[in-house]
Amino acid sequence: MPTVNLSRRKFSHLLLNTALAAPMLLTNRAAHGASHSRPFRQPPLDPGRIEAGRRVFDLSVAKGRTEFFLGHETDTIGINSTFLGPVLQAKAGDRLRMNVANRIAEPMTLHWHGLHLPASADGGPHQSFGPGETWSPEFDLLQKAGTFWFHGHQHHQTGAHVWAGMAGILRVEDDEEAALALPRNYGEDDFILILQDRRFDATFQMPYALNMHTRMTGLQGDQALVNGQMNPVLETDVPRIRLRLINASNGSIYWLRFADKRTFWQIASDGGLLAAAEPMPELLLAPGERAEVIIELHNGEPAFLQADVFGAEAAFSGAIATFDFMEIRPRKAQPPAPALPARLAEIAPVPEQTGVTRHLRLDMTGMGMMGDFTINGARYDHSRIDFAVPLGAVETWVIENTTPMLHPMHVHDVQFRILTRNGIPVAPQEAGLKDVVLVDPGQKVELRMAFSDFSDPVLPYMYHCHILEHEDAGMMGQFTVV
Ligand code: C2O
Ligand code: CU
Ligand code: CU
Repeated sequence: MPTVNLSRRKFSHLLLNTALAAPMLLTNRAAHGASHSRPFRQPPLDPGRIEAGRRVFDLSVAKGRTEFFLGHETDTIGINSTFLGPVLQAKAGDRLRMNVANRIAEPMTLHWHGLHLPASADGGPHQSFGPGETWSPEFDLLQKAGTFWFHGHQHHQTGAHVWAGMAGILRVEDDEEAALALPRNYGEDDFILILQDRRFDATFQMPYALNMHTRMTGLQGDQALVNGQMNPVLETDVPRIRLRLINASNGSIYWLRFADKRTFWQIASDGGLLAAAEPMPELLLAPGERAEVIIELHNGEPAFLQADVFGAEAAFSGAIATFDFMEIRPRKAQPPAPALPARLAEIAPVPEQTGVTRHLRLDMTGMGMMGDFTINGARYDHSRIDFAVPLGAVETWVIENTTPMLHPMHVHDVQFRILTRNGIPVAPQEAGLKDVVLVDPGQKVELRMAFSDFSDPVLPYMYHCHILEHEDAGMMGQFTVV
């Protein structure tokens, strides 16, 4: 079947690692140079405050106006800001308390994506709270050093809330990572890049308006944003930088690379450091996924971060655009930084299976407006728990994609390991800690995950496609740990 072959060629890069020659329908909005005029900005780093042995963060979620275009205001949602939120800084092992105030005049949730925590603190659709209320979950930060994020997850509203700006970053440090010679000075040699795209109308608004097509494919924009900015320029004096990349788009899969095709090094995936730095010419990042990369700048050459942009229907359309996300401009040439550490982190061996194997079949029932995206034939039902996992079980989940679309599948509560794609073991950059796995049309992926803590007979965790329109359309299920 040609669609499957096309997709396999484009998206099994992690197996094949071939350069692609994608057909461009819409190409290259901004030439390099003149249009790159805005200095790069990052969200403020927020270390919270220490109170009775806990690290406390105050997050106010409110509607605001953001000036994406000079002299024009766009209606948005922000967290302690008008669009997006702060970068929360915390240390592995911290006891966290999040005071989340709802100032948006409608029910909302805030979900801590990638964190292992009790279901009651997860911030999924069952932790909805109303306007004027403050939700204050408290939990231990049980992650390794890495880049996590948080975003709205209100039932049927995830897509709209995230599109408006309801998302922020959690930057976690630990002793293992701190002992490595890696860039980690926020804003000096270590940067957050929240990658998104939006479509603006003639009045500079970005309405969340789905039609039959965008509901099927996920909502995508034609304007690339980095931390809410268009085409920023980062000027730097250091020979090596670390970029923490977050795909916080609703429905865009980014095939990232630098315009000059330079090699960079991936050092972390969703849940933390890889065992070793992996040299990469390009990097595929699906909605929800994170990657940390190292770029060498000592030769003084500017690095233009670009992406070929794909939607869920990539097997039919190929790339729909090429984005110029930003320019990184070294101020001078200088001697190279010392070699990267040969070993980064101790990645625990994949745990032995002790529990069941679960089969999740991604399917579609018709191409219409209703009931189209399903898992094992069922749409998400807020009052149905799909299964219960026994506390302590180590399970294998086999996700089989029988649709012609791509689905980045995400599981709450755990960092999992990807064992195989179509029976073939995955490449090293996918062999670390993951919480999102992009599943090609026709592909079968095998995951291993441990449910080691936190049981709750009532409150569930979610598993779903992270194309937010697919999630809102019902490509989601829920499980308890009991
Ligand atoms: Cu990032 Cu259930 O989501
Ligand atoms: Cu999540
Ligand atoms: Cu999907």
